[in-house]
Amino acid sequence: MRTRTLLDAATLESLLAAAVAAPSIHNTQPWRFRLDPESQVLEVHSAPERILPLADPAHRALYLSVGAAVFNLRLAAVHLGMRPDVRLLPDPQAPGLLAAVRLTRRLTADDHLDDAGLHEAIARRHSSRMPFTGRPVPPPIVAEMTAAAHRAGARLHVPDIAGTRWLLRLTAAAEARNIADPERAAETRGWITAPGRDALYGIPLTALGPPDSAARMPMRDFTGAQAALRRPTLRFERHAQAALLWTSDDGREDWLRAGQALQYVLLTATARGVRTSLLHQAMEWPDLRGATAGSRRLRRPQMLIRFGYGPDGGHTPRASANPEREAGCVTEPRASHPGTGPTG
Ligand SMILES: Cc1cc2nc3c(=O)[nH]c(=O)nc-3n(C[C@H](O)[C@H](O)[C@H](O)COP(=O)(O)O)c2cc1C
Repeated sequence: MRTRTLLDAATLESLLAAAVAAPSIHNTQPWRFRLDPESQVLEVHSAPERILPLADPAHRALYLSVGAAVFNLRLAAVHLGMRPDVRLLPDPQAPGLLAAVRLTRRLTADDHLDDAGLHEAIARRHSSRMPFTGRPVPPPIVAEMTAAAHRAGARLHVPDIAGTRWLLRLTAAAEARNIADPERAAETRGWITAPGRDALYGIPLTALGPPDSAARMPMRDFTGAQAALRRPTLRFERHAQAALLWTSDDGREDWLRAGQALQYVLLTATARGVRTSLLHQAMEWPDLRGATAGSRRLRRPQMLIRFGYGPDGGHTPRASANPEREAGCVTEPRASHPGTGPTG
């Protein structure tokens, strides 16, 4: 017997539109969705054709990205009055199935994730790679961001000025290695797209930021050796605010949890008018990633989040998740790779 249908096409479309608005490494959008029409379970699969073999050989960043999309999906379901029961890695025989979200109409008090305007923040959140003003984010907002990470099963370490400088130095060391490695630099540059191209994946040049003229802020240089694509330098905030997201274990499920926690933190910041951008470079080199944990050897660092006040980030495209409901349908990308850009 067929289960009563909860998800009409419009509902499914708004769920998936929220999911794909999540941040993903190099905007690879490494996810696919499949709705089982009988069980009303929405499956989230990885998209193995959009992995980054050099920057992300263990696929940790892919899991973080998918975790962020799952968090958006949960918020959108609650917003639509549905209860999302999420199972991470539900089938050991299907390693590419990263989450299964069963949607029911039974909402409980625990489901009210979007109390603080988080759902509304999904569409407003963009990575902002421009200099921030330097006005400090007040401690109560930082505390809310920290609590969000905690509630999602991760931790947020917000260091003092000296600790922040140390994390930025480690990030700068990683960035220097990335740039010095021509193959890594080419992999990154391959995800940059030129204005006017209808790319559905990757980062448009317009969403990139400038290098810091004082060389303090190690923003990722996505342009590789093509200096002509680089923006003129600008001076970044003198005292950056940054937070290290970490988990106590480092398996696939922990990465999915870290991704959800990351998105919870980013949306909490966005809802309070705080801009964010991500500095992931040190996480891509095991020795530097380990060093970001400092003396806390039990910490498994997952992401460095820069935050502050400043301009909004440029928009990045998304491949629409086409919510067709044929049996076995997986949402298909309309392009296989962003390498439609001029630089790839
Ligand atoms: C795991 C992960 C790693 C990322 N690393 C970086 C990074 O090192 N530098 C950066 O500028 N953005 C980084 N980003 C942000 C993505 O580039 C960004 O989310 C994507 O381009 C989509 O843009 P949006 O965040 O504005 O929606 C990362 C995002 C994720 C999820």
